Amino acid sequence: MKLSTQLISSLSLCAAALTLSTLSGCQGQPSENPPIHPNLNMDFQTKYRPQKENKFFEDGRAMRLPVAGTVAQGQLKEDSALHLGKSGEAFVTKIPVGISLPLVERGQERYNIYCAVCHGKTGQGNGIVIQRNAGMLKPPSIHEERLVNMPAGQVYDAIKNGVRGNMPSYAYAIPVEDRWAIVAYIQALQLSQRGTIDNVPSDLATSKGWKR
Ligand code: HEC
Repeated sequence: MKLSTQLISSLSLCAAALTLSTLSGCQGQPSENPPIHPNLNMDFQTKYRPQKENKFFEDGRAMRLPVAGTVAQGQLKEDSALHLGKSGEAFVTKIPVGISLPLVERGQERYNIYCAVCHGKTGQGNGIVIQRNAGMLKPPSIHEERLVNMPAGQVYDAIKNGVRGNMPSYAYAIPVEDRWAIVAYIQALQLSQRGTIDNVPSDLATSKGWKR
């Protein structure tokens, strides 16, 4: 009698342990079965992942090209001055976006990130990359007469398309507005090296005792 009570109690203990381990799904163990997914949300959808086949189309590709002759909304880029820096074939001389202090400051930040490594922080053409690679083509100083007189659109074009294969294009990294911000900052840098007493506001010049 005593033996059978013991047997029953140890059997029920075993059963309880088994139920528990089944319910907990042996957490932490690798399993071939798909995980239990009580809340489906939108986790399983009928959709095509990139590069997948779709027999509905003649060419069998699920990824579709835009229909020939169509342009995505907002991508027409009609404004040639803004997007190409050109009016007809000629480079624009005026920056086609509104100039403000925040724009120039943005340009300074972007210039220091993307251009200063080669062109140098002040635009002398002596960035860290040039200093450390003796054989590398040195960019021209932006304070050279040719670059000072360069139309704004041509500087924009240098960022967008690169220069003669010697400077890479930065179109992928720098969006349109930022390109113009950099052009504005380059103009400010150029001005900073060519200032005369006439650029100083007259009241400041008088208070400092500077003669015009
Ligand atoms: C990897 C180095 C490198 C970086 C980064 C670089 N440049 Fe240049 N850049 C050059 C070199 C080299 C030249 C000279 C190319 C030549 O004369 O063939 C050049 C030339 C230029 C010119 C003169 C174009 C001309 O027609 O003569 C401009 C303007 C210019 N860069 C602007 C920029 C701006 C703005 C940036 C940042 C967005 C930038 N560069 C980033 C290397 C660089």
